[in-house]
Amino acid sequence: MTDTSQATLSPTRRAGSRKVFIKTYGCQMNVYDSQRMGDALASDGYVATQAIEEADLVLINTCHIREKAAEKIYSELGRIRKMKLERAAEGRELRVAVAGCVAQAEGEEIIARAPVVDLVVGPQTYHRLPQALSRVEKGERVVDTDYAVEDKFEHLPKAERKEIRARGVSAFLTVQEGCDKFCTFCVVPYTRGSEVSRPLARILDEARQLAEAGVREVTLLGQNVNAWHGEDAAGRPVGLGGLVFALAAIPGIERLRYTTSHPRDMDDELIAAHRDLPELMPYLHLPVQSGSDAILKAMNRRHTADDYLRLVDRIRAARPDIALSGDFIVGFPGESEADFDATMRLVEAVGYASAFSFKYSPRPGTPGAELTGHVEEAVKTERLGRLQDLIRRQQQAFSESLVGKTLSVLVEKPGRHPGQMVGRSPYLQPVVMSSGEIGEIVEVEIVEAVANSLMAAAPLSFERPERGGPFAA
Ligand code: 5AD
Ligand code: SF4
Repeated sequence: MTDTSQATLSPTRRAGSRKVFIKTYGCQMNVYDSQRMGDALASDGYVATQAIEEADLVLINTCHIREKAAEKIYSELGRIRKMKLERAAEGRELRVAVAGCVAQAEGEEIIARAPVVDLVVGPQTYHRLPQALSRVEKGERVVDTDYAVEDKFEHLPKAERKEIRARGVSAFLTVQEGCDKFCTFCVVPYTRGSEVSRPLARILDEARQLAEAGVREVTLLGQNVNAWHGEDAAGRPVGLGGLVFALAAIPGIERLRYTTSHPRDMDDELIAAHRDLPELMPYLHLPVQSGSDAILKAMNRRHTADDYLRLVDRIRAARPDIALSGDFIVGFPGESEADFDATMRLVEAVGYASAFSFKYSPRPGTPGAELTGHVEEAVKTERLGRLQDLIRRQQQAFSESLVGKTLSVLVEKPGRHPGQMVGRSPYLQPVVMSSGEIGEIVEVEIVEAVANSLMAAAPLSFERPERGGPFAA
């Protein structure tokens, strides 16, 4: 999972309208949610700004996954408090709203701990944001963190075409939310609730709307995205594999991705989609968390290290060039040196193109926090260092294996230097090129692998290749 801390909305201005500054922490789903909250606020007369100084409303979309992420919010609120006081001295108002998973988990506590906050809104009630804000306008401090019975997505206004376009040619689309897996370290089942899939027809509608606005690549989001299930028009069950096939048939949608997946939900239909569907990009984020069976059991992952390795073999048999990514936790309670070695061996056996690794952070209310055998901080730090070293070497080796190969790249935006353009390889790496039009898929030769990106020679052609990768079967 990537840290996406950023202001997520594109700045468009209309004279006289109120302005909202949205800051997003955490995962891609929060990025998507921030956009949808922006859409809800737009229908209420708010215009997005990227300059906090000119905002009438500051909205922080928060992440609760690790302690550090949650604590960041309170220091951010401290800074905003100063700003609000300065404004008040000038006789101007600044409203402050906290959304997302910290809002869900801590609700009233935020109101008590941070007097600067006017509104706390949980991830299931974003569609009620305008109503909650009108109560704030009347002087109330509001907490709305219910699990709404109605489907928020059905009640959120659609994005305007120009807003979609401003967000770029690659878009997120939430298809599933929540989780029933209850890994013992994880707050998600408590903050996002139980697993819910959005209906197929709604997802197709939203994807068509994205494509019509110029989006070329769609990343399907869900905390457990591959647990997505729905029904086709005839009432037959469809899984994520079926969904990606249906989405690939939409004119304009050239590339599909999905994240995050659980190994237990990686079914044959989805693996076959990686074999048969050129639009499905050869990149898969498939967290395993640990290579030790004892730790996997204590984490309630309900699979062994060997189950995972055999699954990876099946996926690679279907799509040999697939780039694998994962998440790892080091220092889970009870993790011995031998358990950690098993994680290192698993990483060596898989060979990741990239991976994210974290020190275990006990989260209040999760079973993991109650376990005995907590690992010392210094040991966690040392193990994390070794694991990250190995992952870095694997990432570098993967990038270097692409030098001299021809890759298809979706051109996304101008680069840092004049004339440069930046896009994404099928394996999700940024590719820096000397030319290209935003929204085009170009074929380029990779000439160098640098830090986190690939450098390309001038584009070779502007046609979409049959298959996305250099090792196409
Ligand atoms: N401590 C450390 N890392 C965690 N993650 C989830 N919960 C915790 C925790 N309590 C990591 C997992 C997950 C990723 C999104 O964050 O690796 O896959
Ligand atoms: Fe958290 Fe586990 Fe659910 Fe992923 S599968 S969201 S790690 S409980």
